[in-house]
Amino acid sequence: MFATDKLKIAVLVSGRGSNLQSIVDACRSGEINADTVLVLSDNSKAKALERARNQSIKSKVLQRKNYDDVATYDVALSDAVEESGADLVCLAGFMRILSKKFIHRFDGNIINVHPSLLPSFPGLAAQRQALDHGVKVSGCTVHFVDEGVDTGPIIIQSCVPVMPRDTVESLSARILEQEHIIYPKAIQMIASGEVKRWLG
Ligand code: GRF
Repeated sequence: MFATDKLKIAVLVSGRGSNLQSIVDACRSGEINADTVLVLSDNSKAKALERARNQSIKSKVLQRKNYDDVATYDVALSDAVEESGADLVCLAGFMRILSKKFIHRFDGNIINVHPSLLPSFPGLAAQRQALDHGVKVSGCTVHFVDEGVDTGPIIIQSCVPVMPRDTVESLSARILEQEHIIYPKAIQMIASGEVKRWLG
């Protein structure tokens, strides 16, 4: 890829797609030197698909139930990403754990956003975990994806205060605002070469 080329992004989603929206908006405004070439969902009812359609971005639904096993499903997923010509895979609320095969096929070129200050509170219900632990500060992290769950090298983080009366909903909303800021920033850090692809 030449320095002036736009980074091509495939975004994997399962639901609401607010992070997808922030990425697409940042591509359109020129904040990031990238194009979203594919939105891939494992859920045919994901609101993210509607967002993709509204922006005339190519989307594809691949549902696990239509494949015999996880291995075949993951091959279909990775084939779709490869066919799109994407240089970078962005997980944005994609609710499936990717197989080692998928991860190694796109080695160093998969990133994820997680709603906690990793390495604290990996996995599901990060905001619930933060509240249960009584932390006073939480936030979000964009990181490269390795074989573990939310364990790959950190690219960027942002923190938010945890208020005494916070609920999962109020804390999640405060964190989400920051996700929408740092996810496009992380992509631009990769697009500009400030952060190198990670070869784990
Ligand atoms: C975000 O909180 C993200 O951190 C987590 O899943 C949620 C996705 O939200 N991985 P959205 O679909 O981008 O609105």
